[in-house]
This record gives sequence, C-alpha cells and structure tokens, in this order.
Amino acid sequence: TLVTTNEILRHAMEHGYGVCAFNVENMEMVQAVVDAAKETASPVIIQTSANTVKYAPMDMYMAMVSAAVKDADVPVALHLDHGDGAGLALKAIRAGYTSVMIDASKQPFEENLRMTAEIVGLAKPVGVSVEAELGNVGGKPGDPEYGTDGYTKVEQAVRFVEQSGVDSLAVAIGTAHGVYHGEPVLDLERLQELRDALDVPLVLHGASGLTEQDVRNCIRHGISKINYATELRIAFTEAVKEYIGMNEDFVDPKKFTGYARDRVKAVAIEKMKSCGSHSQA
Ligand code: G3H
Ligand code: 13P
Ligand code: ZN
Ligand code: NA
Repeated sequence: TLVTTNEILRHAMEHGYGVCAFNVENMEMVQAVVDAAKETASPVIIQTSANTVKYAPMDMYMAMVSAAVKDADVPVALHLDHGDGAGLALKAIRAGYTSVMIDASKQPFEENLRMTAEIVGLAKPVGVSVEAELGNVGGKPGDPEYGTDGYTKVEQAVRFVEQSGVDSLAVAIGTAHGVYHGEPVLDLERLQELRDALDVPLVLHGASGLTEQDVRNCIRHGISKINYATELRIAFTEAVKEYIGMNEDFVDPKKFTGYARDRVKAVAIEKMKSCGSHSQA
C-alpha cells in the first residue's frame, strides 16, 4: 500500500525502530526493495534524488512503484530526495509522490526556514509529507568544513521545526554521503539532545558505509529514517560487472539486470533487519 512517510515514521518513532529509505534508479531496484519489504514484513521508503528524476521522469518511478506495491501488504512511501525548491516539489506532488524533501541546508538559517515553510504550505494541504535538513551533512575528516560546527544545533532545530511545520528533520551528526574516507565521528549525545527537544521523526543521511552498530546506535538515540543510496548502487553495479565478467555468450539484458536485482534485494533485507523494521508492517 502506498502511504505517506509521516504515517510510516510516526509508527517507527513511537515504537523505537528505524525505517530504511532506499534510493532507487530503475525498475529492478524498485522490485528489489519492494520484494525485500514483503519478505521481511517491513515498512519501507523508496526515494529518487533530483539527479535520478532527470534520468527518468517522476511519473515513470511513480508508475513502477504503484505497480510493485499493488499486491504488497506492507506500507511503502515514495519520496523525493534532496529536492531543491517549489518547482520540483510540485512536480513530485503532481506525479503522486507521497513525500518530498526540501534540502536548503546550504542556505543561511532564515532562508532555509523560509523555503521549507513554502514547501510545507504546498504539500501539507494535499496530504504529502515534508522532510527538511538543518546542519551540514557531509563533513568528513579531511574536508575543509569538517568539524562539529556543522552539526545541527538544538535550539535552532527547535525553532526550525516549530516555525516551518515540517514533518521530519534530517540532522547533521557526523554522517556523510557516499563512502567514508576515514572513520565517521558520530555525535550521539547531540542526537539524543535533538531527539529530546523535538517532536518530529529524525532522519539520517549518508548511512552507506556505517557499521551495523553505528546504525543501531543512531536508532537507539532517536533516528527513525535511515537513507541508503551508495551501498545499493554498489551492489547493483558490482553484480552487473561480475555477471558480465563470468559470462560471455549472452545477449539478453535480463540476465545481468536480474542477477543485480537479486543482489540489491539481499542488501535491502540485511539493512531492514539491522534497522529493526522487520515484522513491523
Ligand atoms: O543523497 C542523495 C544520493 O546520495 C544520491 O544523489 O543521485 O545526486 O548522486 P545523486
Ligand atoms: P549514502 O549514499 O551515503 O547511502 O547516502 C544516501 C542519502 O543520504 C540519500 O539522501
Ligand atoms: Zn541524503
Ligand atoms: Na555514506
């Protein structure tokens, strides 16, 4: 069943488990994620980034997800990841997405707040959930901007959530997009302070490359949505390379995309189990 992220994440927050949000690029990844959710009885969030919806239109992803969830007895949400403003958010809403992110975290606080409130104004009246981001996700040791300065500040977050009316908040506590070069430094104390001060579900970006223990700790200290993109991309692409490396005499693309689909499903199942979403559907 297609539902909002708000519905999925409120349940997760109340029951103390995490829900995986997987970035998908194609039909096989949609199928892999929905099959993984069915097999583990997990709620799940499927998301497409701003770049992904340049590869294929949102109508296309919406149609694939609708078809995939038709006989799936688990809650599934379709979410626009890292949207950049009203234009893209409106397109997603029109396409039937049940949730959108506005990422204005690179903007000054007041501008981030203004842009987020604008998207909330568009989405809330039509029952679409909104995620925003506050702080600097991506600071890695070695990066110029590295340091806890970019981590989400509690008082700012309280004002941001109150004044924007946003449904969920992505926080910066030391994770980064892509693979990690060096050990991530997670501030679980800050995360717990944010959890205690806020009444909306919190989102962790950049989960690829974290250990299972890191992820579990983040969930224990207040994260409800865990975003995975890179690890699924690696699983898909490595499987394709592997298949093609092992087999020369074939012309049917279904051979290698099917092989890659199985691999993505296995990774999704593993992540759902470490987040504790299995049997929660
Ligand atoms: O945060 C988003 C994911 O890492 C994917 O982004 O599609 O722009 O590479 P991308
Ligand atoms: P990773 O690529 O590190 O998994 O990050 C995913 C993400 O945050 C998508 O918004
Ligand atoms: Zn992200
Ligand atoms: Na990462």
